[in-house]
Amino acid sequence: MRGVTVVDHPLIQHKLTIMRDKDTSIASFRRLLREIAHLMCYEVTRDLELELIPIDTPMAHIEAPAIKGKKLVFASILRAGNGLLDGMLDLVPAARVAHIGIYRDHETLEPVEYYFKAPSELENRLIIVVDPMLATANSSIAAVDQLKKRGANNLRFLCLLAAPEGIEKFTKAHPDVPVFTAAIDSHLNEKGYIIPGLGDAGDRMYGTK
Ligand code: PRP
Ligand code: URA
Repeated sequence: MRGVTVVDHPLIQHKLTIMRDKDTSIASFRRLLREIAHLMCYEVTRDLELELIPIDTPMAHIEAPAIKGKKLVFASILRAGNGLLDGMLDLVPAARVAHIGIYRDHETLEPVEYYFKAPSELENRLIIVVDPMLATANSSIAAVDQLKKRGANNLRFLCLLAAPEGIEKFTKAHPDVPVFTAAIDSHLNEKGYIIPGLGDAGDRMYGTK
């Protein structure tokens, strides 16, 4: 699928299988999401541009590679995005963070926006939007809309599970935003849940059901 990368490393697939299991504990679910975020972060940042900077090792003066440009921004769609965010920040601790509060109305599946806080300068920074679930895509489309409204022009979307319906809708709405996912599942059910999926990601992370 154009603009969509399935990061299907065996370690990711193995950990994802444990996350899908309804008997997996909240603590394990959270730990696995963080570990998968490490592995996916590696992939989504694979092509970052480098520049040479001068440093002194104990033995010599050299020009050594470092990531070029402004600090990355990770944009977490609350609540479940925070599970991926934690793992991303483990690998890129200097990244800036945007929090976007959106939940979907259970009846209409329309996104309800309740919070937005982001670094003031979003233009010309790489912004990686994170949320484990891409179902109808209503939440992720709304989050990217908000970021673009504030000047974002270089975005990627990273999730754990996607439904084919959501991918189609998201890539139509934002064809300039590449999607990275660990798996594309079969379909959405009549309530907008991903099948087979893993259930409600926020509830499984925070024990709220
Ligand atoms: C979940 C998930 C996504 C959204 C995906 O959040 O974390 O944000 O659903 O569904 P969509 O693609 O159909 O919009 P939820 O609405 O359950 O909010 P919560 O994380 O606050 O519980
Ligand atoms: N949000 C979730 O948390 N799970 C789904 O299956 C769909 C949307």
